Amino acid sequence: MPHAPYPTGRFRRLRRTDALRRLVSETTLSADDLIWPVFLADAEDAGPVASMPGVERRTIEGVVEAARQARDLGIPALCLFPHTDPALKTELCEEAWNPGNLSNRAIGAIKDAVPEIAVMTDIALDPYNANGHDGIVRDGVIVNDETVAALVKMALAQAAAGADILGPSDMMDGRVGAIRQALEAEGFQDVTIMSYTAKYASAFYGPFRDAVGASGALKGDKKTYQMDPANADEALRLVERDIAEGADMVMVKPGLAYLDIVVRVKDRFGVPTFAYQVSGEYAMIEAATANGWIDGEKVMFESLMAFKRAGCDGVLTYFAPRAAHLLRG
Ligand code: PBG
Repeated sequence: MPHAPYPTGRFRRLRRTDALRRLVSETTLSADDLIWPVFLADAEDAGPVASMPGVERRTIEGVVEAARQARDLGIPALCLFPHTDPALKTELCEEAWNPGNLSNRAIGAIKDAVPEIAVMTDIALDPYNANGHDGIVRDGVIVNDETVAALVKMALAQAAAGADILGPSDMMDGRVGAIRQALEAEGFQDVTIMSYTAKYASAFYGPFRDAVGASGALKGDKKTYQMDPANADEALRLVERDIAEGADMVMVKPGLAYLDIVVRVKDRFGVPTFAYQVSGEYAMIEAATANGWIDGEKVMFESLMAFKRAGCDGVLTYFAPRAAHLLRG
């Protein structure tokens, strides 16, 4: 792009006042760009999440209240993550497709009370798995195809409960196609899929695993199914595959450390692209803010703007209600 050399050209002319800066601002952020992840729990497990200040595990009534708040703040969608009673966790994860499980009851309650809010779910077996993995474990191996069959049952139960957006976060091969075919076959052709397409095996998920009570259960790591942080080209192949299998939207996760992936995905495919600013990212900003080391509000907005600038259509963020509230005022 041509520009006049100094002194004919002076970039600071357009930075001089707030009005001029606003006029030439390239990126905007609004409540429309936010998806609010909320943790769900039975009454006895509800309450604050220690490693995520300001975030709590909510009962079904609490989640419905969050949905009302989201509606009033202009946030289009909530994403539900259940904390599961350890007594319900099994090797085969049957609770995952129980039509009456906590998550499915919450979907129904939200759609009854606040139908205009889009409800997104998480499809992975970890909340229901005795060993904390996203897939079924046989002789120490996370088995792909048997897991996909279980995920399909889980997806259908969520669709039947009224979910608008299904989020397969398990990273098994073939899951998007299997879920899409089952949705078509069972009359759920309008249910959307936001695939966790480029989900990395990341240490940034630590606080989340505390929030849903999976930390204690998890044996080993998730490196045989989640992506290697060293890889980028692989993410593009996964996007191509997930779109071909019937995903409507794709996601990159974690967020800030993987913005290069967002840029490449959006540039190459131009599909609806989201990023997940995950629990560890939230926790780091909150911890530094609590110490008085950074201005938390400014860092929050700067990070959310970075996602938009990189090409995200939206961001899953625990800051959603706070950011939307401040964007209003
Ligand atoms: C479960 C799942 C995880 C997150 C979203 N879905 C954890 C994991 O894969 O271990 C992490 C979200 C966050 O850290 O905020 N499959």
